[in-house]
Amino acid sequence: MDLSHLKVLVTGGGGIGVGAGVCQALDQFGATLLINEKELDKAVKAAKLYKNAIPVQADITQKEDIERMFDIIQAEVGPINGLVNNAGVGLSKAVHLIEAEEFDGLYDVNVKGMWHVSKYFVKQLLAHKITGNIVNVSSVHGFASQPNYSTYASSKSAVEGFTRALAYELGQYNIRCNAIGPGMVHAEQNYELIKTWAADPVKWVEDFIENQQTLHHFIEPIDCGYTAAFLLSDLSRSVTGQTIYVDAGKTIMLFNQDYINQK
Ligand SMILES: NC(=O)c1ccc[n+]([C@@H]2O[C@H](COP(=O)([O-])OP(=O)(O)OC[C@H]3O[C@@H](n4cnc5c(N)ncnc54)[C@H](O)[C@@H]3O)[C@@H](O)[C@H]2O)c1
Repeated sequence: MDLSHLKVLVTGGGGIGVGAGVCQALDQFGATLLINEKELDKAVKAAKLYKNAIPVQADITQKEDIERMFDIIQAEVGPINGLVNNAGVGLSKAVHLIEAEEFDGLYDVNVKGMWHVSKYFVKQLLAHKITGNIVNVSSVHGFASQPNYSTYASSKSAVEGFTRALAYELGQYNIRCNAIGPGMVHAEQNYELIKTWAADPVKWVEDFIENQQTLHHFIEPIDCGYTAAFLLSDLSRSVTGQTIYVDAGKTIMLFNQDYINQK
């Protein structure tokens, strides 16, 4: 795949999970990367990993930061034609214990931040009369969830609704909008989270892969990256408003593997 015609902004692109996988895949296919992070240092460090990458700082919960980021991008590379809304935060907490500030903090990044960055991205596409492409990062939690994930899951369902509505609205400009929904991705931060409910997180993940996925391998960040790259490419020119779950079969299971093995 040749994506050398693409200039893609990846929010939270300095992360070690899905964001890194997206940047690695796009770099492999020759795209120019604009790597956004809340902290400039993190963006600078990440940008050094790729052939053609520019770090751009912005806290995506801050309007002024987003405006400044698009001004810098315009000055450095001109209008861009790809956006991966990857930056996101999680929360694992019982519904009756969540504070309003925690709810707002999560929605400010996962939903409002996504809308806000998309707004400025679309504005510059329309101003320059060019087409472009958006890939939003949802989650399997947009489809099905687990206890203590009500805020996170609802934010990801919002991402999928946003994706569909944006795809409809922007079709007239030939601007596409899709989402990827990662499952359990091989990323360090997941082990930290799993420690909150499992004594042995490594064993828990191994059991999950065997019992809760139809494909028994660990989902690597680049698996998400390759799917995002496909959605950004012209190979998917007739695909819009969709969420592709990169979940090794998690969301299609009616019964877990243990149940099937007993048959
Ligand atoms: N890791 C998983 O297993 C998994 C599974 C499903 C969905 N996701 C989704 O993938 C996306 C990436 O998550 P990840 O866990 O792979 O992390 P990641 O390694 O891609 O890191 C996310 C990055 O976002 C940045 N960020 C957070 N708030 C920001 C803000 N306000 N402004 C700018 N940058 C900000 C962080 O600094 C971090 O580097 C998220 O949307 C997450 O919900 C992850």
